[in-house]
Amino acid sequence: MLYESFIGHDLNIAATLLKQGEAVAIPTETVYGLAANALDEKAVAKIFAIKSRPTFDPLIIHLSDFQEVEKYVKDVPEKLRVLADAFMPGPLTLLLKKKDCISDLVTAGSPYVAVRIPAHPVAHALLKMVDFPLAAPSANPFGYISPTTASHVADQLGDKISYILDGGPCKVGLESTIVALSPAGNVEILRKGGLSIDDISQVAGPVEMRQHSSSKPDAPGMLTSHYAPKIPLIFGNIREHTANYPPESTGIISFTTPVDGIPAQHQIILSSAGNFEEAARNLFAGMRLLDQCALDVILAEPVPERHLGLAINDRLKRAAADRSTAFHQRDAIK
Ligand code: TXA
Ligand code: MG
Repeated sequence: MLYESFIGHDLNIAATLLKQGEAVAIPTETVYGLAANALDEKAVAKIFAIKSRPTFDPLIIHLSDFQEVEKYVKDVPEKLRVLADAFMPGPLTLLLKKKDCISDLVTAGSPYVAVRIPAHPVAHALLKMVDFPLAAPSANPFGYISPTTASHVADQLGDKISYILDGGPCKVGLESTIVALSPAGNVEILRKGGLSIDDISQVAGPVEMRQHSSSKPDAPGMLTSHYAPKIPLIFGNIREHTANYPPESTGIISFTTPVDGIPAQHQIILSSAGNFEEAARNLFAGMRLLDQCALDVILAEPVPERHLGLAINDRLKRAAADRSTAFHQRDAIK
């Protein structure tokens, strides 16, 4: 179905559409989500269709409060409950054993469901207005950069969804950090994200990192090429690469400092003060902005590998991954 892209602030419209089994774009503190009733398979199927998302990539369910979680999961292991107490609502997603009411379509056949409580007043109010969890992936076409404003959503999915609920620019700007309990019973990071590993370790002690292969479908959202702009992106020492490209058609993503000789409008400075939160907030919007310029290449440098820098570098690395890998991945799932 073709829709006029419609951005608004009306919670009643959003809730009514969701109750009717439609998909609606919603704000969260991390990125915008494409939400639908997680208990209605037909509604969930619309999310996959709108995003062109392979059904092997499972969805996170969103809830208003932690009390709601127990309705949909069998139990919450103590080590994960401690994290929930410390960081929910917030940019943290927990992988928990699902109850039967959560369909295999949501979890891609896994007995575990990913659960998140967004820390965004609009998302919270909306979740309070419906009596079901909202399944919601990021509101972008599969493989592209996640949206951090309502107009980012409209740019790409506006003709496919009936309503985009505007909650302003996302405060975190990176997707949630996904955490599970490892087979050895330790806290394990499945996806780096908007809650730093330092913050998690302070509460949970040392954590494991889940190793994954780029093509393994159950590796959570971790296809090698992901979060990718259309223009080729090179991740590395930008000053080494600038000589290889004409300055007027080169884009830059730098942590704190511009590069001499490149037009200022083609340079994204993530945070001139070197602040990781600010850099995270600016990352996806900056990538999108450069992707809309007629450039040959985007050169992006790693930020320091600590705090949110780990997740920022992870996204840049995936944005840089060989595009032929992405096509491979898409072909494999068709
Ligand atoms: O911040 C976020 O997490 C945003 C906002 C909208 O909440 N959502 C988001 O969703 O990033 P998405 O679908 O783009 O990424 C969720 C990742 C997927 O890559 C998926 O593989 C993983 O979570 N995931 C979801 N359910 C899972 C499960 N049952 N087992 C393993 N991984 C799972
Ligand atoms: Mg996504």
